[in-house]
Amino acid sequence: MPRILSGIQPSGELHLGNYLGAIKNWVELQERYESLFFVADYHAITQPYEPELLRKRRREMAASILAAGVDPAKASLFLQSDVPEHTELAWIFNSVTPLGELERQTHFKDKAQRQGSVMTGLLTYPVLQAADILLYRADLVPVGEDQVQHLELTRVITRRWNAQYGRGEDYFPEPQPLLTPARRIMGLDGQTKMSKSLNNYIGLLETSAEIWAKLRPAATDPARQRRTDPGTPEVCNIYHLHRAFSDAATVEEVAVNCRTAGWGCIDCKKVLHKSIDTELTPIRRRAAEIAAKPQIVDDALAAGAARCRTIASKTMSEVKERMGFA
Ligand code: ADP
Ligand code: TRP
Repeated sequence: MPRILSGIQPSGELHLGNYLGAIKNWVELQERYESLFFVADYHAITQPYEPELLRKRRREMAASILAAGVDPAKASLFLQSDVPEHTELAWIFNSVTPLGELERQTHFKDKAQRQGSVMTGLLTYPVLQAADILLYRADLVPVGEDQVQHLELTRVITRRWNAQYGRGEDYFPEPQPLLTPARRIMGLDGQTKMSKSLNNYIGLLETSAEIWAKLRPAATDPARQRRTDPGTPEVCNIYHLHRAFSDAATVEEVAVNCRTAGWGCIDCKKVLHKSIDTELTPIRRRAAEIAAKPQIVDDALAAGAARCRTIASKTMSEVKERMGFA
């Protein structure tokens, strides 16, 4: 079975962009792949943060991933910092990572621009990500589009390390991203990517009423000023959300009624709200079960970390042997 690996930062609550772009895919893929998923808590400290909040959010993120359908009987779920080899391998990879490649990363440029003093961890963030992936020699990495550049850098690191220490073989496979059709979900403003760090998201575990309060004022086709103006579904973020949550017949009905002004935007949003509720109902139910029995999270994380430490320590001893440390 090919191996997949993916991670998510505990930098806030899971939102519909994370769910559609990544986690929903994890849930499907766990049926067909040896699956390793983790909460990237060491990555989260590359931005200013509160220790108490990190403690809380790591757990909440793990609980939300389980609620979304990742099943500890099928996949390993763990906290990155529970497997120390991640940072050990990252240090080693620093020695085969060209500085220029790190400075070119959009993630670094965006975040560095917004900060007065920039810490090295922000620059070397993708080196740790390469270590996350290669520690398990994962073949595929299910992520959203924003992670593709990091994956390219991981391949650069893979080639460099293999060339220097692989003894003529590709010890580390070159990992490929696995994208979903919903690779880039826009926020409620319809302008920027839905993101935990922006106030433009719908949380996966928000109530039906909370979701409606956010959907109601959400941006639509700006050309539809009045109820009677016809719209262009392709430029409307609500239509794109329908494509992610509604069945094919509903999506078609939405498109027709938008173009002919048969429905107003509020009518369209009501239908979307119903589709989102249908998708989220089982997730809310599982979240409530987990909240009532927090041991489910502890057990899943302990089992996941134990499994992953075994793989990680084998890789590290092979890496060290090839590099002259043993
Ligand atoms: P955020 O940008 O909200 O902090 P992360 O960077 O932690 O989210 O991303 C976690 C996963 O969710 C990644 O695989 C990422 O590609 C995916 N993802 C994040 N935002 C979106 C989005 N708006 N659309 C699709 N996928 C997304
Ligand atoms: N950088 C990823 C994000 O912000 C999280 C992440 C860390 C990750 N390590 C990873 C994703 C390894 C995939 C594989 O979403």
